[in-house]
Amino acid sequence: MYKKDRILRAETRSWWEQVKASGKTPLGMLGVGITTVFFVLSVMGLIAHTAGMIKNTYAVIITVILFPSGMFFGLLLVPLAVFMGRRKMFAGSLTKEGFKIDLGNYLHRKILLLVLVLSVVNIALFTTVAYQGYHVMDNPAFCGLVCHTVMAPEYTAHKRSPHASVDCVECHIGPGIGGFLKAKFSGLRQLEGVLTGNYRRPVPTPVEDLPPATLTCQKCHSPEKYFGNIKKTSVGFSNDNQEKPIRQDILLHLGGRDPVTNSMQGIHWHAGHGLHIEYQSLNDKRTKIGAVKMIQADGTVKLFTKGAKSKNNLLPWRRMDCTDCHNRPTHIFDDLVGRVDFGLGSKKIHPEIPGIRQDSLTVLQKQYGSRDEAAARIVEDLKMLQEKRNGADFVTKNDKAITDSGAFLKETYLDNIWPSMKITWGTYKSQIGHRDAEAGYGCFRCHDEEHATESGETISQDCGLCHKMPD
Ligand code: HEC
Ligand code: HEC
Ligand code: HEC
Ligand code: HEC
Ligand code: HEC
Repeated sequence: MYKKDRILRAETRSWWEQVKASGKTPLGMLGVGITTVFFVLSVMGLIAHTAGMIKNTYAVIITVILFPSGMFFGLLLVPLAVFMGRRKMFAGSLTKEGFKIDLGNYLHRKILLLVLVLSVVNIALFTTVAYQGYHVMDNPAFCGLVCHTVMAPEYTAHKRSPHASVDCVECHIGPGIGGFLKAKFSGLRQLEGVLTGNYRRPVPTPVEDLPPATLTCQKCHSPEKYFGNIKKTSVGFSNDNQEKPIRQDILLHLGGRDPVTNSMQGIHWHAGHGLHIEYQSLNDKRTKIGAVKMIQADGTVKLFTKGAKSKNNLLPWRRMDCTDCHNRPTHIFDDLVGRVDFGLGSKKIHPEIPGIRQDSLTVLQKQYGSRDEAAARIVEDLKMLQEKRNGADFVTKNDKAITDSGAFLKETYLDNIWPSMKITWGTYKSQIGHRDAEAGYGCFRCHDEEHATESGETISQDCGLCHKMPD
């Protein structure tokens, strides 16, 4: 029989002929086929990508990740086929002893040269593609789109923040190969979650393994920069007063390294070089803080503790950094009332329409089943409320003003609310200031005059410590 015949002839064939014959199984041919097809696709994709012809993120992912992976897979099938075929056909006659490369042999030289050339081509292609793939994976669009539903809220908030041009990886991945690998491993875990639908909604915050700010924020911002006092102005309205803004200015003692005294002062004092602060929280959210340590450059420690010394539920010490105050430097979700008042102040919501402030707040707090439903209904719902309040004639006469106001509300809703991720107003709170102090957010977690040293010193809540209200 054919097969038996081959086995019998095995002794008399050179190792190369045996390898070739072993590879000529359906699996081997499949491998060669897949490799060839994906090699051609990869090269074409690479040319198109380099020429800037591919703009769509999904298309980029296919060309720089899927095609080369296909080629790699095909390449793996070939040795596998040889290995399996060898066992079947030559019953072990293809031995180490028989495997000799003879440079005097023309055929061997030809094979060697072919293997060398192909390897060089493959390695060159792979490194080019891997380099491109690495950059694609570093791109916010990749993070935002690959985990579409999961990351869409952060992606959207990031796009309209002061950090819109800073890539996700600048803050989320530590530098160097270590940071990259760590992120890719936890990325794999997250990918599994996305594929199986098994992830937490909303995505929990704070992010446990966020790299320390020294490796991220401080690459671009110096903690010692002197700001002195900065003025923050907020504008507010009320339901009875939609037209005349109530302005509130406060002067924040942001500080930094004082150019005269050379000492760190003000709010940024916590983040200066030399001294640092550590704390132990009582929960994952870091909204309850059990103990605070102030460590001077010379090692002197001042320890503040609160309440009974129940040490058993304290989490490990954490070194306070930028993100303990700036926890939302880029994923900025609006404050509901603040956003509506911004709309009134900027006339994106027409303040001359009676009751529009209250109706806007009502519409934005409606529980829509999905973002699509909200997008389709918000303008209509605002009109319905206005009809009830001001009558159908009024609504017809002021159609444009109400529609424009509704369009702003729709945009505001879509920037902030994600029913599928269970994100609504106030889901992600800021640690800056003390607006959400009741819920355990902000400066008053420590500045509550209840954390005390053994000698009774506390962390001050004196209003003048952090800001001055201009009179
Ligand atoms: C300027 C720095 C910065 C950039 C750029 C950035 N992030 Fe974040 N991100 C943070 C910080 C800080 C937190 C942690 C908040 C906390 O710990 O309380 C965070 C938290 C998150 C969370 C957890 C949920 C949440 O809102 O707290 C996700 C998801 C996330 N980021 C995704 C992204 C994606 C996707 C991008 C790019 C589109 C991105 N981040 C870009 C700083 C950044
Ligand atoms: C790759 C550089 C880069 C990194 C990393 C970075 N930032 Fe920024 N940051 C910027 C730029 C650029 C701006 C905008 C500056 C401007 O417009 O004046 C900015 C602005 C800011 C602002 C002012 C925002 C405002 O409302 O005006 C704060 C606060 C801030 N960054 C904090 C952080 C924190 C906290 C981190 C780390 C989690 C961080 N940044 C990481 C580049 C960076
Ligand atoms: C103790 C809390 C705290 C810490 C820690 C902190 N900041 Fe701030 N930072 C503030 C506050 C409060 C403001 C005032 C502006 C605001 O309310 O957003 C501010 C403002 C800023 C601004 C904007 C200044 C402007 O022009 O408006 C930048 C940039 C900034 N911080 C960067 C950093 C960086 C980088 C770090 C870490 C090295 C850091 N901050 C650590 C509380 C803090
Ligand atoms: C993790 C705890 C903690 C948090 C959170 C915290 N602080 Fe502090 N802060 C301290 C400690 C401790 C001191 C030093 C108290 C002392 O000197 O006895 C301090 C001191 C200060 C000082 C005086 C600095 C100086 O010049 O001596 C200011 C101003 C200040 N904090 C502002 C803020 C602001 C604003 C926030 C919120 C954005 C904030 N802190 C959040 C722990 C904290
Ligand atoms: C530990 C520092 C700190 C102390 C103490 C402090 N504040 Fe503030 N406060 C802030 C910061 C920071 C902001 C700015 C928040 C922002 O940028 O959004 C702020 C903002 C405000 C605002 C503006 C509205 C808002 O909530 O954002 C008011 C009003 C205010 N503080 C009142 C007070 C009063 C009254 C006291 C004294 C009981 C006080 N604060 C004590 C840090 C402090």
